[in-house]
Amino acid sequence: MNLNNLAPTFPIVRRVLFAVVAAALGSSICPAQNTMATIDIQVDKPLHGVSPTLYGLMTEEINYSYDGGLYAEMVRNRTFQDHDWSGIAHWNIEHIGNSVASMDIDPKDGPSEALQHSLLVNIKQADSANPAGVRNEGYWGMAVRPNTGYKGSLYAKTDTADLGSLSISLVDERTGKTLAATTVSGVSQKWAQYKFALTTGKVEATSQAHLLLTAEHAGKLWLDVVSLFPPTYNNHPNGNRADLMEMMAAMHPKFLRMPGGNYLEGNTIADRFPWKKTLGPLVDRPTHPGTWSYRSSDGLGLLEFLEWTEDLKIDPVLAVYAGYSLRGAHIDAGPALQPFVDEALEEIEFATGDPSTKWGQVRTALGHPAPFPVKYVEIGNEDSFDKSGSYEGRYAQFYKAIKAKHPDLQLIATTPLKNMKPDVLDDHYYKHADEFFEDVKHYDTVDRNGPKIFVGEWATREGSPTTNLGAALGDAAWMTGLERNSDLVVMASYAPLFVNVNPGGMQWESDLIGYDAMSSYGSPSYYAQSMFGQYLGDEVPVSSALGGSSRFFYSVTRDASQGKVFLKLVNASSNPQPVAIQVAGAGTVSKKATMISLTGAGLASTNTMSDPTRIAPVTSIIDAGTSFQHTMPGYSIQVLEISAK
Ligand code: AHR
Repeated sequence: MNLNNLAPTFPIVRRVLFAVVAAALGSSICPAQNTMATIDIQVDKPLHGVSPTLYGLMTEEINYSYDGGLYAEMVRNRTFQDHDWSGIAHWNIEHIGNSVASMDIDPKDGPSEALQHSLLVNIKQADSANPAGVRNEGYWGMAVRPNTGYKGSLYAKTDTADLGSLSISLVDERTGKTLAATTVSGVSQKWAQYKFALTTGKVEATSQAHLLLTAEHAGKLWLDVVSLFPPTYNNHPNGNRADLMEMMAAMHPKFLRMPGGNYLEGNTIADRFPWKKTLGPLVDRPTHPGTWSYRSSDGLGLLEFLEWTEDLKIDPVLAVYAGYSLRGAHIDAGPALQPFVDEALEEIEFATGDPSTKWGQVRTALGHPAPFPVKYVEIGNEDSFDKSGSYEGRYAQFYKAIKAKHPDLQLIATTPLKNMKPDVLDDHYYKHADEFFEDVKHYDTVDRNGPKIFVGEWATREGSPTTNLGAALGDAAWMTGLERNSDLVVMASYAPLFVNVNPGGMQWESDLIGYDAMSSYGSPSYYAQSMFGQYLGDEVPVSSALGGSSRFFYSVTRDASQGKVFLKLVNASSNPQPVAIQVAGAGTVSKKATMISLTGAGLASTNTMSDPTRIAPVTSIIDAGTSFQHTMPGYSIQVLEISAK
């Protein structure tokens, strides 16, 4: 039956009649299902545009997101800064046979000004049959794959001319077998860097492996910046894990908010993100304490952040330190704040300045002459926590200085201001699914004369370590509100993005993407984010909905140039949800639509390392047209891609 013919002349009567008839039909067919929802889309009547940067990424050094995560370095504590009375973290002495050796930190000898201490391995007795040295356990193991090349380097020196070559190998902990081996010779009595390569053959892939460095003669051996990388995304030296980069790319993001979060602020002013000290050779990076209980290697430094955006072809949203740190220290606006403003101006110049500028020249010398396309700069992070009230003045001081040099930059405030209108306001929301269902209309009535909105962090927090289907439903429901209000909401980014699922890897529950050394998986929320990011038009057409359960949500966007309508449907109830859809105002509407559907057995259903795609999108073709019905399963998120030209 073509319900569109029942009352063709009067749209409202037609819609109500349509709903009543459809509901009656629906309820007589399946008593357990929800009442019919009717959606009427006026394809030829755009309400407003969709922000071209609506969905993006936010990460920081939390949950071993970079070290032990995205940043592909395999050696943990490569600069030996993590040590205490109990030992040198993640390093152990290895004496084979009757060799004798010990290790300790040499607090007074290091390879650079930035790294003024090192590991001292004191080999008292060793020979070719009885070598001695140290091993590194990696980030909960090291992923070793067959027929793969690994690139390594280390800084070393010795006190003897007789130490001989260093043997370097990857060892399978299950069997004790060597998976790849090489030697480094010529270690001298002065600090120098030595590079090496390890190549596996036909070995079994395992993450139960470690790196072993041994010598066959007695002597003292100092080591620092011991590094090993697998093949990386786009083969960048000092680069990122390919699987995680690919997972981000599949979300179709448009920006990366960087470098945090609390990680930007630091626990103290001294521990703020030290962008200048994250540039250049690793040996010149002193590393710094992060805010999430572990030190950052700073291998993923400012330039690597920017190159990450370049690899994904997205814009950097650069957050600059603004004089407030997590434990409450702040600097009032005025002369004391000026050095921090200057530091931010230099940082912006590093990212955007042409090679003739001072910091553009630094970037060029590091191999990247082309400026990065920064359009948004965020001033601080979550400054509502600064109870001194200093943010008003701090924001104004940064704003004035940045706008004077970069009038086109959009400057984001992290909390509402009383005395001035920021260009953009960063709102953060961490809620349960029910709260997001209640809050779907959050931006419907917000004043359009106020600042634009950046939802810089948000997530439905259900499920651990990664979120479950219930969380994905909360996210999807709330995203329908973001799309409906995408004239106001210019950007939104889920947080946190990453979690290392190993014991001790997580500081913040309910994350989007989980991984260990070897592999990774997306949570149901990851797939919801990906579906919303991938199927997004450039305008929001007029639409209306009637009926359906109280936990039914939808949004519509249209890609005018391609003549495609993307209808997103969220059924957060356990019952099937029948939906009657009318597509008006198009010359032709195709008789078939592509449907991408995400559903699962229940709210707690989820994906894990061992069952990574239990809940994953399924694509199919369904009947469509100017007027059609479709029934959603309980607990489902669906995108209908309808051709309407
Ligand atoms: O995403 C985790 C943390 O939540 C961020 O660091 C901080 O900005 C927020 O409080």
